[in-house]
Amino acid sequence: MPLQTLQVIEKHIERRIRLFEQKNGIRLDDEVHFIRSWMRKPLAIGAGTGPVTEALVAKGIDPARLVLVEFNPIFCRLLRDRYPQATVIQGDAYRLGRLLGTLLRDPAAAVVSGLPLVTKPLKMRLRLIEDAFHLMAPLAPFIQFTYAVVSPIPRNLTGIRAAASEPVWMNLPPARVWVYRKD
Ligand SMILES: C[S@@+](CC[C@H](N)C(=O)[O-])C[C@H]1O[C@@H](n2cnc3c(N)ncnc32)[C@H](O)[C@@H]1O
Repeated sequence: MPLQTLQVIEKHIERRIRLFEQKNGIRLDDEVHFIRSWMRKPLAIGAGTGPVTEALVAKGIDPARLVLVEFNPIFCRLLRDRYPQATVIQGDAYRLGRLLGTLLRDPAAAVVSGLPLVTKPLKMRLRLIEDAFHLMAPLAPFIQFTYAVVSPIPRNLTGIRAAASEPVWMNLPPARVWVYRKD
């Protein structure tokens, strides 16, 4: 679709959202960012505005300990505004080793991923998890959210243990959490 057409549709949707906000006395800025980005790059989008980060902070994780990797510059700006103490890195998470190799002073305690892994070739997924294990402390978990029914990382990989949560039916579409650890 030509960019101009996309921009007209975006403006139209945005106007409708603003009218809805005025009528109901609420702000839906995240939704506006989400729609804009989804229209431009459907495969590279999820919430991307920090609900997982919010949950981590609500559970007591100090934001200063968080390193947030996000590809989308608009979401990065949003995350920087929202979590000024966290380190926000704009870049390709599938290049995690290169991206964070010299940044971390101590091994990471965990990697939490909302990447749409199943849309990527297996080779890329395996490199990502290998990079993540190199950056983490021994036995630290790689935690992955997914809408897929099967594990986004093959379960029979030598040296990696996988465990799945029950489906989270409250999520739309229902999601699942996988936890991978090195044996
Ligand atoms: C399902 S959302 C993750 C939600 C996120 N954990 C949160 O709390 O908002 C997927 C996010 O991954 C980002 N993304 C997709 N591919 C990426 C890549 N290769 N590198 C970095 N971020 C990427 C998208 O821009 C989107 O914001």
